[in-house]
Amino acid sequence: MSKVSVLVGTQWGDEGKGRIIDLLSSDADFAVRFNGGNNAGHTIVVNGKKYPFHLIPSGILQPNTKAIIANGVVLDLEVLLSEIKMLEDDGLNLKDKLIISDRCHIILPYHKALDQAYENARGSEKLGTTGRGIGPVYADKVSYNGIRIYELVRWELFVEKFTFQANIKNKILKTFDTPVIDIERALEKFKKLREIILPYVADTYQILTNAIKDNKKVLVEGAQAVLLDLDFSAYPFTTASNVVTGSINAGAGIPPQKIGDVWGVVKAYTSKVGSGPFPTELKDKSGDDLREKGGEYGTTTGRPRRVGWLDLESVKFACEVAGITKIAITKIDILSGLKKIKVGVSYNLNGKSISYSSCGYDELEKLKVEYKELDGWDEDIRGCRKFEDLPKTCQEYIKFIEKFLGVKIAIVSVGPAREEYIKLV
Ligand code: GDP
Ligand code: IMO
Ligand code: MG
Repeated sequence: MSKVSVLVGTQWGDEGKGRIIDLLSSDADFAVRFNGGNNAGHTIVVNGKKYPFHLIPSGILQPNTKAIIANGVVLDLEVLLSEIKMLEDDGLNLKDKLIISDRCHIILPYHKALDQAYENARGSEKLGTTGRGIGPVYADKVSYNGIRIYELVRWELFVEKFTFQANIKNKILKTFDTPVIDIERALEKFKKLREIILPYVADTYQILTNAIKDNKKVLVEGAQAVLLDLDFSAYPFTTASNVVTGSINAGAGIPPQKIGDVWGVVKAYTSKVGSGPFPTELKDKSGDDLREKGGEYGTTTGRPRRVGWLDLESVKFACEVAGITKIAITKIDILSGLKKIKVGVSYNLNGKSISYSSCGYDELEKLKVEYKELDGWDEDIRGCRKFEDLPKTCQEYIKFIEKFLGVKIAIVSVGPAREEYIKLV
C-alpha cells in the first residue's frame, strides 16, 4: 500500500516548503493542508512566474494533483477567494481540483480585530503575530465559540451564530477602544462569499480515506514549522496550531499508521519573523547582507525577516519530535560568496550544556551557542544539477548537516525555480 508522505518545516517557517511541495507533487494525486491559515505564505516559481499561496495547498499547480484544505485549517474566505481568482485568471480550472472541508473554522472579522488589539495592547512586548486572526480563531475553536463552514452551508445557523458571537466580541473590542464590527455589512459580505465557496465544500475525510484505500499518492503539507508548534516551541512565541506530524491525524483525519516518509525542510541558514528568542541571530551587517541576498521579506506581511546561522541543536530536536525521515535543504545558493560559514551545534547555559527541548524562552534568550566554522565557497551554484557539480566545501557543508542530524538529505534546492534542485539518491 502506498503510504502518505508528509512535509514540515524544521525551523521558524519560510524554509521553502511550498517550493519543495510543488516538486514532490509532480506525481501526487492529492496535496493536503492540515493546519494553520493565511499566516502561511508559500512561494512557488514556475516558468518565471511567482505564485504566493496562503491557503491553497502548494501542489495545486501540478496538472494531476487535487488540492485538499482539510479540517484543521482556519479559513479567511476573502483570502481564499483571491487565491482562487489568481489561479482562475491563470487559466486553471479549479472545479474538482480544489476541495474544502466543512469542518474548517472560519476566520471572522472580529478575530482579526482582536489579534491586532491584543498586539497593540502588548506594546513593546508584542509577539509579532501576522495579525491574521489565527490565535483568536483557534481560541474560539477550543472554547466552543467557533463558526465553521458547516454553518456557512446552513445560512440561518450562520446568521444566528455570527450575530451572537459578534455582539459579544464587539463588547470586548470596545474595551480595547477599537472599532467594532458592523454585523449587517459583514453578513452581506459573507452571503456573497458563500455562493463562491460552497461548490468546493465536501467531506474531505471520506475523500482522503478512499484515496488511501485506493492506493492514491497523498502528500501532506505542514504550514509554519516545528519551532512554531503550539506545544513544542518557546510558548508564547509560537503559532496557534500544532505542526508536529502527529497533528495530521487531528487536522486531516489521516491515521498515523498510514504515514510513510516525513520530509523536513531545512533552510541552509535561519530566518524568523516576529518576536521571541533566536539563539543564532545575526544582528550586525552580516545579517543585513544575508537578509538582502536571501530576499528575506515575509510572503504574507512583507516584514523583514530576522536572519542568522543554521542552528542544528534546534533542528535536531525538530527532526526528532516530528519523526523526520528525509531532508530537503533549501537556499544553500544564498551562502555562496561567504568566506566562512558558522553552524550552531550546541547550547551552553551558565557553563553547562543544555538541550533545546529543555529550554523555555527565558533560557533561549540567555544561553550561548557553540559554533562549528566551515569553509565557504565562491561559485554561483544555481546551475548545479548533480552533487558532484557543487564546490567541494559546499558538499562538505551538506555532509556535515546530514551527519549531525542523522537523517538522509534527499534534495538540495539551489534556487527558487521548479527545476533548480539536485536529487540525491
Ligand atoms: P515557505 O513558507 O516555507 O513555503 O517559504 P516561503 O515561500 O515563505 O519563503 C521561501 C522563499 O525562498 C521563497 O521566496 C522561495 O521562492 C525562495 N526559495 C525557495 N527555495 C529556494 C532556494 O533553494 N534558493 C533560493 N535562492 N530561493 C529559494
Ligand atoms: P509559513 O508557512 C514564518 C509566526 C509569526 C509570529 C508567530 C505567531 O510561511 O512558514 P500567528 O499569526 O501564527 O499567530 O503568529 O508565528 N508565523 C510564521 N513565521 N512563516 C510562517 O508560515 C508563519 N506563520 C506564523 O510571525 O511570530
Ligand atoms: Mg512562508
